[in-house]
Amino acid sequence: MQTPIDSSQFRRIMSRFATGVTVVTTRSGQEVHGLTCNAFCSISLNPCTVMVSVAKDARSWPLIEESRLFAVNVLSEDQTAISDRFAGRHRDKDDDRFEGIEWTTAVTGAPILEGTQGYLDCRVTRTFDGGTHTLFLGEVVGLNLDDSRPPLVFYGSRYMGVDSLKPL
Ligand SMILES: Cc1cc2nc3c(=O)[nH]c(=O)nc-3n(C[C@H](O)[C@H](O)[C@H](O)COP(=O)(O)O)c2cc1C
Repeated sequence: MQTPIDSSQFRRIMSRFATGVTVVTTRSGQEVHGLTCNAFCSISLNPCTVMVSVAKDARSWPLIEESRLFAVNVLSEDQTAISDRFAGRHRDKDDDRFEGIEWTTAVTGAPILEGTQGYLDCRVTRTFDGGTHTLFLGEVVGLNLDDSRPPLVFYGSRYMGVDSLKPL
């Protein structure tokens, strides 16, 4: 018989895997929403395709399902408050997560946040059932980079900057 997996150990191991932090935004009709997401990766270059994993009970999920579009906003070091807000940690801002935040649109109409390191505007090409989550693959149809901004890192369940990182 297989030994049961200790999920707290699983969480601890996953927390050692340093990631960036993104806010995945979407729009369906006039409704816009978004969530903080670090289950994000590059899938292919030709065509440029990325994947985001979104919980089926997240409010953005039905909007992405309907509209088949999303934007990945890659956060900068000074955007921890934005990350917290889009992770639902600012209760007073949970009805309208965009209140007081500057944003524009690019190709798909998904919100593009100001002050990020860059964005990838995507149309959904495929979805995969991941149990509690859906894996959305998106082809990049618009993008922009501001490489003057340092990245926001998530490591050990905390936000980090990259000042003390050293090239090996
Ligand atoms: C650093 C960080 C990373 C997260 N990554 C994901 C993720 O990859 N996928 C996901 O579904 N939720 C992720 N979450 C949780 C969602 O951001 C959070 O549940 C959010 O409130 C969902 O939006 P909703 O409240 O509108 O449903 C993450 C939260 C944090 C703080």
